Amino acid sequence: MKRIAVLTSGGDCSGMNAAIRGVVRSALSAGIEVVGIQKGYHGLIDRHYEIMSTRSVSNTLQRGGTFLQSARCKEMMEEPGQRLAAENLKGLGVEGLVVIGGDGSLRGAMALHNQGIRVIGIPASIDNDLPFTDMSLGVDTALNNIGYAVDCLKDTASSHDRAFIVEVMGRRCGYLTLVAAIACGAEHALIPEVEYDMDRICENLRKRYREGRDNSIILVAEGVGSAQSISDQIKDRIGFESRIMVLGHYQRGGSPTTFDRLLGSRFGQGAMDALKKGETGKMIGLSGAKLTLTDMQKVLDSGQRPIDKNMIKLARSLEV
Ligand code: F6P
Repeated sequence: MKRIAVLTSGGDCSGMNAAIRGVVRSALSAGIEVVGIQKGYHGLIDRHYEIMSTRSVSNTLQRGGTFLQSARCKEMMEEPGQRLAAENLKGLGVEGLVVIGGDGSLRGAMALHNQGIRVIGIPASIDNDLPFTDMSLGVDTALNNIGYAVDCLKDTASSHDRAFIVEVMGRRCGYLTLVAAIACGAEHALIPEVEYDMDRICENLRKRYREGRDNSIILVAEGVGSAQSISDQIKDRIGFESRIMVLGHYQRGGSPTTFDRLLGSRFGQGAMDALKKGETGKMIGLSGAKLTLTDMQKVLDSGQRPIDKNMIKLARSLEV
């Protein structure tokens, strides 16, 4: 193998730069050239790329987002766009591609595999909704961001006897909300995977008020509904004044945690190794402490990663 390419696609997340760097450094040290594709599949279709050197990835490890930039690309969902992307890669003499992104990005990667391109996918999305990996890249940093925000909100909430309803990202997946609620000591976590009883929640909040507690935190996953809609349902029923906070894209940015830097570096190097061994159409993942490779089609056919029942049990025993 003489030349490979790397791109980041879909929603950005912290740790993507570490993964790019892992790919580039391990390829260059094996004497393989790397083409960095800009703006995800858009750059592949419109031919925006650069040959990368070790200098291209220096000083990137600590930066959030992706320095190659990312995009959601509609053309890549249709056959003509997929064919053009594959032709451009072949024209560039690229013999392998690493795609760093979430579910939609892996669908594009699978389409390229079916067009005869050797491809390995790296799971990267704060949602942690991809199966066959314990963690996707960016999740740990997002959890830390949420933790910091909730700690700040608790300070102001306690000063005013208020409840805060905090809207957390995650698309249809409640992982971020549930784990953040456990780690932040929130009173309630509303996630799409588990039914909730609004009367019971309001009763518990009223009880806290009667007991003289000075704050309450309710995390709501965007897949359940907006913080505003939950606030409308509870505001006249809980005794506390309430405010809402939509964490939004703040969750996706910021300097990656050590965990995400390490995971990105391991995923990047692991993807490069897999390409060298002739693997294709696979997604790299983390199982315990080990890296794994799973058929990308199997990943895509399996649907959303289910919520860990032990995590729900833990939340319940901690009275979240
Ligand atoms: O998939 C990552 C994610 O941040 C989701 O949690 C969220 O619903 C979505 O992307 C937001 O997408 P966009 O960046 O296109 O607004």
